[in-house]
Amino acid sequence: MPLVYAEDQTLTRADFDRLARVIYDTAGITLGEQKMDLVRARLAKRLRALNVPTYTAYIDMVLANPNGDEFVELLDAISTNLTSFFRENQHFDYLAKVHLPEVVKRNQATKRIRAWSAGCSSGEEPYTISIVLGETLPDLGARSWDTRILATDISTRVLRKAQAGVYEPDRIKTVAPDIRGRCFDPRTRDGEPCFAVKPELRQRIVFNRLNLMENWPFHGPFDFIFCRNVMIYFDKPTQEKLVGRYYDVLAPGGILFTGHSESLTGVKHKFKFVQATIYQKG
Ligand SMILES: C[S@@+](CC[C@H](N)C(=O)[O-])C[C@H]1O[C@@H](n2cnc3c(N)ncnc32)[C@H](O)[C@@H]1O
Repeated sequence: MPLVYAEDQTLTRADFDRLARVIYDTAGITLGEQKMDLVRARLAKRLRALNVPTYTAYIDMVLANPNGDEFVELLDAISTNLTSFFRENQHFDYLAKVHLPEVVKRNQATKRIRAWSAGCSSGEEPYTISIVLGETLPDLGARSWDTRILATDISTRVLRKAQAGVYEPDRIKTVAPDIRGRCFDPRTRDGEPCFAVKPELRQRIVFNRLNLMENWPFHGPFDFIFCRNVMIYFDKPTQEKLVGRYYDVLAPGGILFTGHSESLTGVKHKFKFVQATIYQKG
């Protein structure tokens, strides 16, 4: 029998459509036709790993058990996880200079701050939030406040990396050198240098797997939510529903930060526009 490699298999339009439908229904992610090559390439690895001969057989297998482990692997394979420390830094600037001073004033009675990084990928976003809290709160007289960051993602693969909190030197280049020294411990991993986020910055973060389309096992209220470069994969009705749910779990005065290309134009919502990609609950 000739050897058949996954790369040589055809992903038919019908199979791609079946896959796209279930991914939309489950994760809200819209997979346009232009993603066909990408999906084919990424799934080739799963076919090889499982020794499944064709895309049709693979998709049949996944769809037979949409709550199974392979569905999680499938979502891992197709999700885009690009992120970095201090990505879209104007948000962290706004957080430090404008929003945290307001939150500290507002929450004097509870001395608590609650944040959510929704779609946290490999952790750079929630760790950056933690760094900003650590750098800013002492100056606001709130050093010993009870601070918690919930960090969630649908992908178990990126969550494992996030939970480990250890990054290659290249990954922390976007962190200012003085902050780098205060926030990371140099280590070696497999003989290579790397940097571990300091325990005090990790302690305030709770990582959990959460599909944003499902029920949320919490009610907030959050003082701010980062949902950046996630909604870009969702269509307008899905965005609208999600933005409404964020509104409901934010505290009055709470902020929703969205990604640079995720304006809420055309999405019905109750937020007050503060500036591009920054929205406040009244
Ligand atoms: C491009 S990353 C953005 C990471 C980070 N927020 C940032 O802006 O740097 C998008 C993340 O959204 C996650 N994601 C996509 N659909 C999701 C869903 N339905 N529920 C939860 N997370 C989802 C992906 O797994 C991925 O890690």
